[in-house]
Amino acid sequence: MNKSEAFKLISECVLLSTASFSVYYLLSTFLGDPSHRTTDERDRTSKHLASLRNRSPELKKVLSSLSNYEKILLAYLVTPDDINVSFTDIGGLDEVVNDLRESVILPLVYPELFTQYGSLLAAPKGVLLYGPPGCGKTMLAKALAKESRSNFISIRMSTIMDKWFGESNKLVDALFSLAKKLQPCIIFIDEIDSFLRERSSTDHEVTATLKAEFMTLWDGLVSSGRVLVLGATNRPGDIDSAFLRRMPKRFSISLPNAEQRTKILDKLLNDVDVECDVQELVDITEGMSGSDLKELCRNAAVNSTREYIRRHLIDVNGDLVGGGGRKITMRALELKDFIDSMEPDRVMKLKLTTDLD
Ligand SMILES: Nc1ncnc2c1ncn2[C@@H]1O[C@H](COP(=O)(O)OP(=O)(O)O)[C@@H](O)[C@H]1O
Ligand SMILES: [Mg+2]
Repeated sequence: MNKSEAFKLISECVLLSTASFSVYYLLSTFLGDPSHRTTDERDRTSKHLASLRNRSPELKKVLSSLSNYEKILLAYLVTPDDINVSFTDIGGLDEVVNDLRESVILPLVYPELFTQYGSLLAAPKGVLLYGPPGCGKTMLAKALAKESRSNFISIRMSTIMDKWFGESNKLVDALFSLAKKLQPCIIFIDEIDSFLRERSSTDHEVTATLKAEFMTLWDGLVSSGRVLVLGATNRPGDIDSAFLRRMPKRFSISLPNAEQRTKILDKLLNDVDVECDVQELVDITEGMSGSDLKELCRNAAVNSTREYIRRHLIDVNGDLVGGGGRKITMRALELKDFIDSMEPDRVMKLKLTTDLD
């Protein structure tokens, strides 16, 4: 074989392998799974399919004809058994809870109730929960999913935008078509601001198209009835006004006041032995969110447990003493456990303004 024949052979080999790789790529794109799903997401899809088949036999036909994109979204379905919070765990938001029951759950479960007076009482197609972080928006949505007896798809816009960039349009289509198939259904979009920022000239064209698509599909819900979009955001000011109009029912979930903090602390410390005046605790936690309060109580318990370990389970050399299996009785939590868990700034202020020492 001379030099030119060898060169020809090599180039043919390269061509052949490139061509077969391209055919493989095309086939896998058009026929196979369109996503780059993780095993976990695939597992969740299968689990949710099985659970839906079990719970709603009437959906059998619908479930056997889901598109690949709808199947991707099934991974984000929240089933009641996955949720460990209910409205009773939420402190200080009774009014919001009652209003949500009335404006979200009832229209989905009893749509007839809201058509008795023509379109006067039409159910809202969009509901927005807004307020500072850590005040219970996501928790409220989860509790709603548990109690609504509707299907509930919970997705962050960043998941649609980043993970399936380039295929986001198809995913948004599938989001609404899946919700219609599974109705009554709530589409919960957490951190909705990350997608719906005010449209600007610098906006990426893809994002703008996606927003337009989203709005058209959302408007289409008017005819289909039992699908509702529930959004949550820490930054309502960042939301496009066109979207705000589509969420006429809005709930402000702000930092808890003293009465609300009392209720939250009651819930958090419900099964905890506490030897201090909860009212005092309420006074010194002004400005804290529900999530801050939870962290504070957790840290107070950690402090007391550490103290127990140092006193009873470790000798002077730092070695564990005795075997396991002994009966452990913790002391009740005291005010000092909570104060020791607070930020130094807050403690300093408390010392200046109260007679704490
Ligand atoms: N009103 C509340 N009652 C009881 N726990 C709360 C409340 N608000 C917040 N929490 C606690 O803080 C955690 C975080 O709240 P989350 O719902 O994620 O806040 P957000 O979504 O508003 O940022 C909750 O999981 C819960 O443990
Ligand atoms: Mg949240």
